[in-house]
Amino acid sequence: MGDSIFRPHDTARALTALLWQEHELSRITAGWIPAAPKYEIKAQLGRLSYLHNQNMKALYERAQELPESLKASSSGQSPPAVTELFERLAMANDLYSFLWGYHYVYRRICQNYETLSNRLDPLLDAPTMDKIRITQWAKDEILRSIAEHLKLAETGDVAYGHNVHETMIWETYVKSLWEIDELLLLHLMDMDKISWPYHPVAEPAGPAPSTSVPDPNYPLYENSTNKGMKSFSDPSASPLFESVKQMLYINACEMAAAESLAYMFYGVKNMPLEFYCDLSRHLWDEMRHSMMGIRRLEQLGYDTRQFLWFRGAPGDLSAEERFAEMYSSLTLVAEPCSFRKKRKSAEAFWKFGDVQSAVQSEFDVVDERMHVDFGNKWNTELYKQLGNLVTARELKERAAIRRMNELNVSPAEQEKLVKHFPGFCGISTSDLPYDRY
Ligand SMILES: [Fe+2]
Ligand SMILES: [Fe+2]
Repeated sequence: MGDSIFRPHDTARALTALLWQEHELSRITAGWIPAAPKYEIKAQLGRLSYLHNQNMKALYERAQELPESLKASSSGQSPPAVTELFERLAMANDLYSFLWGYHYVYRRICQNYETLSNRLDPLLDAPTMDKIRITQWAKDEILRSIAEHLKLAETGDVAYGHNVHETMIWETYVKSLWEIDELLLLHLMDMDKISWPYHPVAEPAGPAPSTSVPDPNYPLYENSTNKGMKSFSDPSASPLFESVKQMLYINACEMAAAESLAYMFYGVKNMPLEFYCDLSRHLWDEMRHSMMGIRRLEQLGYDTRQFLWFRGAPGDLSAEERFAEMYSSLTLVAEPCSFRKKRKSAEAFWKFGDVQSAVQSEFDVVDERMHVDFGNKWNTELYKQLGNLVTARELKERAAIRRMNELNVSPAEQEKLVKHFPGFCGISTSDLPYDRY
């Protein structure tokens, strides 16, 4: 390219490289959600993952307008060398090391954005400049957030790990990984001929650990990996069982859904890029729902240690099969069946003068409606990836049957209920005491 003005295909190439890096950053930050040992960090990683996805989306919109851009434009799979590099970057011995590497690499990506902006003609390539500006909006928030967490670790918060010796080795490793990235970017190295440095961590703490790490302030529902739905009818899990405020606890429990989606975001490959955009929003929404539940419970004077909690898990089926099942159970059963409960809770909260809880239920319904649309859009595609061609209707019935098996509904009853969707929800979700505050 030399130092001459960027032509459209030069911009396309530079944007594509940045776009995959943003995509991988959103994957590894999501992958670390279940590995993070504190609720607040899980939530923050959910936010960061979403911001990187937004950056990717902005670049993708522009890249599609340019020639020679993403050859496989519909595939959400980064070039294998880029995926490998970021997966290595994510496989750190503790949260501190992960954040250190992430910070190091993201700052260099920011420099690459700047270099690119300086090369672009501000008039001819104004649409690209505008998209880069969008990514810069998130930059301050991302850098501030990572720096804040690194500082907490350095001041001795044990949740982060931070073994000085291991961290030093890790820092050298991250720098050598990034040198490979720079060579790839400059086309000075062939993707197929990379010799990767020795990975210094034998047992990484993340990403996507075999079970999610619980926060000690959120005691677990006995031995539960994913029994969330059942336990909402177990009075021992919540002091709010006999009040409509149980809805706030149900919201707060959505961290388990967010974690399950985080496993999926990190683990599912080969879906279209648009799928990852929807999934990223979905993940961030579930995290927000959990945060709004916790915030309201705390405002009302409750402590998370008074409740029992669930964790998201990859489950025991093969990962991809598990993801497809989890996603269809969530979007075809749990979410469409939750509307009635949420709407009725909002009405009850208005009646009791609890405006904050009422409004949060209303926003919840807005988000959930979108998640159901996501499910209708992607479920059959996900099963197709598994080599399974099923219609949307069949999927819905299968998800309903899985749910009824969990609830021990008799086969005869199942047959009656499975075809009648709103009716089926009556047995799938337990009602709340809307007349009691
Ligand atoms: Fe939700
Ligand atoms: Fe949802």
